[in-house]
Amino acid sequence: MSTGLASLLRWRLIPVVSIADADQALRLADALTEAGLPCAEITLRTDAALEAIALLSQREGFTVGVGTVHSYRDAEAACAAGARFVVTPGLNVRTVQWCQEQGVPVLPGIATPSDLESAMELGVSYVKFFPAEPLGGVRFLKALAGPYAEMRFVPTGGICRENLLEYLKLPGVVACGGSWMVCRAWLEAGDFARVTAETATALKMIAEAFGEREDK
Ligand code: 3PG
Repeated sequence: MSTGLASLLRWRLIPVVSIADADQALRLADALTEAGLPCAEITLRTDAALEAIALLSQREGFTVGVGTVHSYRDAEAACAAGARFVVTPGLNVRTVQWCQEQGVPVLPGIATPSDLESAMELGVSYVKFFPAEPLGGVRFLKALAGPYAEMRFVPTGGICRENLLEYLKLPGVVACGGSWMVCRAWLEAGDFARVTAETATALKMIAEAFGEREDK
């Protein structure tokens, strides 16, 4: 695993953010940092995404990455703006290879055993399991991961406070991604206190279940 991915996954939680207005970015960074989670995946689902990535990449101690990457060109633009990791919903060979050539940590999306084997062929061992809940959730992922003990998973899609620990307790699951603690409506309403509170609750649950991180 690249050092970049290791430092990201140590929190066991990746906030997946769709940001409507880049002006919200720094307040978002403050809210997440205050909760103890100074990182975010900014999805390319809004026009403000690249500007938000650029702003967050300047923030000392904050790790910003890009999500909803559909092509290597998306990855190129986001990394030029300052993204330090790349998350994709599907397994796009060109995108993965571009990231590997550039030395950018990448978490490609997989949904089936065939996807997993394609990821393995590419030398990838950390994947995003997406969309986790609609695919069948914990039960599906447990069965999928069974024959691939060497693979590591970051389930995302439909994960929330209620099912977070069930996923994290599965063998092979190293972190979860989710938008529930950075809900777009809260950002738009300027309710950053709620972002901090929900994120801190999730981190507390993780610490209680798995112990404090050694680097804390
Ligand atoms: C993603 O882009 O990874 C997902 O849409 C996040 O899923 P969630 O909104 O269900 O957490």
